[in-house]
Amino acid sequence: MSDKFIYIKSYGCQMNVYDSNRIKDLFLNKGYEITNDVSKANLTVLNTCHIREKAVEKVYSDIGRIKKFKNDENQMKLVIAGCVAQAEGSEIKKRSPSVDFIVGPQSYHKLPDMIDSSESKINSEFLQNEKFKNLIFNSSKSSSEFLSIQEGCDKFCSFCVVPYTRGPEFSRSIESIISEAKMYVSRGVKELILLGQNVNAYHGLCKKGKSRDLAYLINKLSEMDGLKRIRYMTSHPLDMKDELINTHATNPKLMPFLHLPIQSGSDTILKKMNRKHSVDDYLRIVDKIRKVKPDIAMSSDFIVGFPGETDEDFENTMKFIEKVNFVIAYSFMYSPRPGTPAQNKDNIETAVKKARLSALQSLLTQQQIVYNKSFINKDVEVLFEKEGRNVNQYIGRTIYNQSTFINSKEQLINKILNVKIINSTNFALESQPYEKH
Ligand code: SAH
Ligand code: SF4
Ligand code: F3S
Repeated sequence: MSDKFIYIKSYGCQMNVYDSNRIKDLFLNKGYEITNDVSKANLTVLNTCHIREKAVEKVYSDIGRIKKFKNDENQMKLVIAGCVAQAEGSEIKKRSPSVDFIVGPQSYHKLPDMIDSSESKINSEFLQNEKFKNLIFNSSKSSSEFLSIQEGCDKFCSFCVVPYTRGPEFSRSIESIISEAKMYVSRGVKELILLGQNVNAYHGLCKKGKSRDLAYLINKLSEMDGLKRIRYMTSHPLDMKDELINTHATNPKLMPFLHLPIQSGSDTILKKMNRKHSVDDYLRIVDKIRKVKPDIAMSSDFIVGFPGETDEDFENTMKFIEKVNFVIAYSFMYSPRPGTPAQNKDNIETAVKKARLSALQSLLTQQQIVYNKSFINKDVEVLFEKEGRNVNQYIGRTIYNQSTFINSKEQLINKILNVKIINSTNFALESQPYEKH
């Protein structure tokens, strides 16, 4: 039994989940145990997100809540990690003196030393290369594992903080990714989700010193027998090269799902957003990928109420969604972010933003419902990952990434099965026994 406990909370994207897993591993290695009870923690890490104002507000309200648990007995140290730490480290210190350490997304490998020496209170260096060489990959117990292969972004969309919080684009080497992947697969992991803020811009070096793309990496990883499924996210339309599109047709381990954010269906707005692609560019990608992989499930992100967005611009986004037909999509009201070019241009009333968001979300939900219903009475392959809320219930994902549940007396976690879909709710599928693979 250890006498040191770490509590860690992750906000924001999957890359933060990956980083939180690594922070856990760093401290498990130092003899800590994980606790879900913050009042027991000797070390609390909030791994934060800066993408929208609401995400940041949540962090400050959690700091207020958690600092009350600091006492003489637990001697709790409070760490703010992640993208808020990077973007407003010194402001956090001023606003919340109860915070002990601040560490950005590219320097958290230094956290154990920082805590030992109690010296540097803020570390916001961009040390991507050094970071990956100093991480530990221990905590995997799941069927599906996130694996960050690329960090940062050089695209500078005018609304987005990522280039400032995650730093410049960086690709890990093929070798270091393969060796991490092998570790997961040897522990029984069946699915890898390759992560990057611009994952399809991946251009890591191979052993020969040659730059390799995402398609190459996916094909290399799929040589591992135990690995059954590969996914990647998030992609940018500019980097959606033919090699990658074709890999969806040629590599059976690459799942038929593509998350490709467009943000708006209006060229005028895309220009103002500095997206560097048009609506037609996007539609051409959809055509190409549907030609080689007709059943590909498409997903996207949208921002409504970007500065200057007219009713007509918004209507174009709705028409675009109708044209493409998404199986799922994420949508947000524009939130002005400090340090970004669009920061001071916010000029769409909140009521208008809300109305647009609600119209857009109901269209997207409608598409999702129709898509999910089309699976009823069909067979589909599912990887079961965890127990459901009810006894003898298991939850997994289809090859198209739909959440699926099943009732089964047999333990199904980490099994890949063909199931029959018998029902669909708005956001999930219900399935029935299966044939074993
Ligand atoms: N790297 C990805 C997404 C990064 S952030 C890409 O290039 O698309 C995830 C999503 O948050 C974005 O796709 C966008 O839809 C949303 N987002 C980013 N900045 C935002 C802002 N200032 N206001 C509202 N939504 C935002
Ligand atoms: Fe942000 Fe644009 Fe980079 Fe995506 S491509 S992370 S939206 S700047
Ligand atoms: Fe948020 Fe940083 Fe991810 S701002 S979305 S946690 S890269």
